[in-house]
Amino acid sequence: MYIRPIKGLTFDDVLLVPRRSSIASRKDVDTSTRLTPSIRLNIPILSANMDTVTESRMAIAMARAGGIGILHRFMTIEQQVREVKAVKRAQGFIIEHPYNIGPDDTIEQARAMMDRHKVGALIVLDESGKLAGLISQRDIMLAPSTIATVRQAMTPRERLITAPPDITVEQARQLLYQHRIEKLPVLDREGNLVGLITARDLIKLIQYPNITTDEKGRLRVGAAIGVTPRERDRAAALLETGTDVIVIDIAHGHADHCIKMLKDLRREFPQAQLIAGNIASREGARDLAEAGADAIKVGIGPGSICTTRIVTGFGVPQLTAIMDSVQGVKDSGRDIPIIADGGIRMAGDMVKALAAGAETVMIGSLFAGCEEAPGAPVLRDGAKVKVVRGMASLGATMDRRRAERSEDESAEDQEDWSKVVPEGVEAVVPYRGRVSEIIHQLVGGLRSGMSYGGARTIRELQANAEFIEITPAGMRESKPHDVQRD
Ligand code: XMP
Repeated sequence: MYIRPIKGLTFDDVLLVPRRSSIASRKDVDTSTRLTPSIRLNIPILSANMDTVTESRMAIAMARAGGIGILHRFMTIEQQVREVKAVKRAQGFIIEHPYNIGPDDTIEQARAMMDRHKVGALIVLDESGKLAGLISQRDIMLAPSTIATVRQAMTPRERLITAPPDITVEQARQLLYQHRIEKLPVLDREGNLVGLITARDLIKLIQYPNITTDEKGRLRVGAAIGVTPRERDRAAALLETGTDVIVIDIAHGHADHCIKMLKDLRREFPQAQLIAGNIASREGARDLAEAGADAIKVGIGPGSICTTRIVTGFGVPQLTAIMDSVQGVKDSGRDIPIIADGGIRMAGDMVKALAAGAETVMIGSLFAGCEEAPGAPVLRDGAKVKVVRGMASLGATMDRRRAERSEDESAEDQEDWSKVVPEGVEAVVPYRGRVSEIIHQLVGGLRSGMSYGGARTIRELQANAEFIEITPAGMRESKPHDVQRD
């Protein structure tokens, strides 16, 4: 038995001491950070891999805002792959397999194809697969009734402006603007079609200045996996589909089977970006770093819907867990980031987590009330709310078991209910509108916090950080007090 001589601290136990600052405006700070050593984010925020928080819609919104969404794993491999594809298709600089049609197909066929795929134009390919032209909705709408085939209505190859595969975003913007066109077929040296650039996608890239994209201009996305043998197939399918980062996510990540999974995946997919967790100790961080993780997710029980600490007696207050994990990574001799997962209720918590050494934070319930989180809002006592549930809650566990055993219908549900020992709760949170608005508030708080800390970067925030432990009276003073709020 051993009792640590220091107290475990969490966000409400401390404040950051203001530092002399040369920052004149909140705009002068840089909120970019590392998700892993090779993936940067413009804002340090991840949406949690929970089934009431992140599916493709949330992941798209997160990447557009400059963070990243981690798709939850409580769905089949096929479903999760579909979710990744939905994010990857949401936008791209170069569309790799644009919809195409033949020159001798009819205008009606072209119209039907555009309607079916909800696109404004089709590439026309001849029998040998070479670019013959481009047909747009406008060509069809304005064509006289004497025009019957695609060939008659299309803009032919010789009148098309095309681009080489190595074109940059800026060059593409210039070409589209100069020629007042909306589509730019991309051809290799032999004249084979390799993709399509559209004005609409470029506008989106410009519209979202912080956007998180991969090397093809597509939104980045992460996806969670478990540690059972079948999860190796899940990882393979996700990586094959272009998932940017895999999160090996189990409740107790400092476990032999998590370390084995990490090592196996590292060996099989040396280039893959692998995050592992959750842990809450120096040794846990060291062991996952040594096993090859590219980032480590920290947090045992700080989450809003977690009951792990009450049910099991285990956990470490989150601020101490972050600081200990940073030390654990140092012990390993590696330089990989820590992700602070759970317990972030407002911007100040995020600033403290980052100042304590985390490079990103993961957020669950704060985002569960957003429009982009799965599920529709419901009315409770006249107010709009959305459901959030711990992934180890009774409902989530039962749903998962049901899905896993869907083939074995003879099994009795009743029996399972009594066997489950939940480590999370189901709850509701206020409906909060678009996630971009919450992120705006969080990042505004971070920028302001960085200026109080005299820090232009998150690294400087960490280097300058001086925490002061506070009393319950100090905490009371920190919140609005002695006024009546409406
Ligand atoms: P917040 O506070 O942002 O926390 O809602 C989200 C994180 O909580 C973790 N999580 C759980 N922890 N039992 C737990 O002990 C659960 O049922 C559970 N579900 C989610 C998870 O790390 C998530 O990112």
